[in-house]
Amino acid sequence: MSQKKVNVGIIGGGLMGKELVAACGRWDALVDHPVRPEVIAVADPSPAVRSWFENAKIPNIYEDYKQLLADPKVDVVYIAVPHNLHEEIYLATVAAGKDFLGEKPFGIDKSASSKIVAAIKASKVFVRVSSEMPFYPGAQAAFNYAKSGALGEIVEVHSAFLHSSDLDIAKPINWKRIVKFCGEIGVMGDLGMHVAHVPARLGFEAKSVYSLLDDIVKVRSDGKGGEVACDTFDNAVLAMKAKSASQDREFPMFWEMKRIAPGESNTWQFQAMGMKGGVKFSTRTPATFHKFAYANGEQIWQEIQPGHKTNWPVITGGIFEFGFPDSLLQMWAAYFAEREGLLGDKFGCATIDEVLKSHLVFEAAMESNKTGAAVKL
Ligand SMILES: NC(=O)c1ccc[n+]([C@@H]2O[C@H](COP(=O)([O-])OP(=O)(O)OC[C@H]3O[C@@H](n4cnc5c(N)ncnc54)[C@H](O)[C@@H]3O)[C@@H](O)[C@H]2O)c1
Repeated sequence: MSQKKVNVGIIGGGLMGKELVAACGRWDALVDHPVRPEVIAVADPSPAVRSWFENAKIPNIYEDYKQLLADPKVDVVYIAVPHNLHEEIYLATVAAGKDFLGEKPFGIDKSASSKIVAAIKASKVFVRVSSEMPFYPGAQAAFNYAKSGALGEIVEVHSAFLHSSDLDIAKPINWKRIVKFCGEIGVMGDLGMHVAHVPARLGFEAKSVYSLLDDIVKVRSDGKGGEVACDTFDNAVLAMKAKSASQDREFPMFWEMKRIAPGESNTWQFQAMGMKGGVKFSTRTPATFHKFAYANGEQIWQEIQPGHKTNWPVITGGIFEFGFPDSLLQMWAAYFAEREGLLGDKFGCATIDEVLKSHLVFEAAMESNKTGAAVKL
């Protein structure tokens, strides 16, 4: 099929910016995708980062993001910069009239996120928010099963992202562990959208929040022989009462976001249990998901192997394993297809309303942590 070429510019070529170059390199794995994105520009103040993009043969390399936004050849921007820069750069991108995929938390706090969302709504730019884990086939299957109504009355929902990235106390500090750059919401800013996306898409809305926020490691090496304060929350556990349009009773919903989760490497999981059925998926066992049914007095768990059954079809054989880079490819496939109005009923990237709602929850969680009480939304 003929594909529309879309020129992409990356602002912030660190860990995530580079992943987009790699995802575009695998674009031909997608079957009949209407778009062919090509990374034609990057902006990053770091010489080492610019040199990486030079090596990747990206033709337009800028030091200042304003140069990239002024480049008329750039159609779509991916913005992957520290959280303290989201507000300035996202607003500048809207003002430049460019569509973009923004990284979470989409503003360092609720106030920044509200300003960005208001500017987008007053413009014509097409914007979505990064969250790739729900694109795992098992996560998609779990989402679809929960959406089908097979659960009956919802009893309880759990959504979690569990890292062990900070278990090593000798690991030097980076911007993600400093409030000034990461935000007061700490780990909720880093991992929150990942746990919020599927519940939000299922219409599970938090009505009250009780939080346990934990700053476990308070000091880290600066990598130069000194020590600096590590002042962000490492772990956040939120116990919520949530509402769904399908039932009157509010139900418990738990979100766990942890950078220090001993025993976990990079585990994203979702579980929803109801009176008739249930579902659970974890990236720890990515080749399977589990369905539950309560029928004729029996409680039945089924283990299902979804294989490489993806949201957007791919050339990869259906029995092969799916992994993190595949989830990024699927997220970008959804972004570009939706931008063309061609996503159909496939699963879409997180929206600006969904990210704003996540910020309402995180703000309430901060308040709950201060008062020790549940906070109504
Ligand atoms: N979706 C995911 O799975 C995922 C994973 C990690 C990080 N993130 C998010 O991506 C964003 C970036 O995180 P990262 O891990 O790539 O960080 P990183 O530190 O690896 O990269 C950030 C880059 O931004 C650059 N930068 C700093 N100031 C800039 C400016 N003024 N203009 C342009 N570039 C500038 C830095 O030089 C650096 O290269 C954050 O919002 C983070 O929360 C998302």
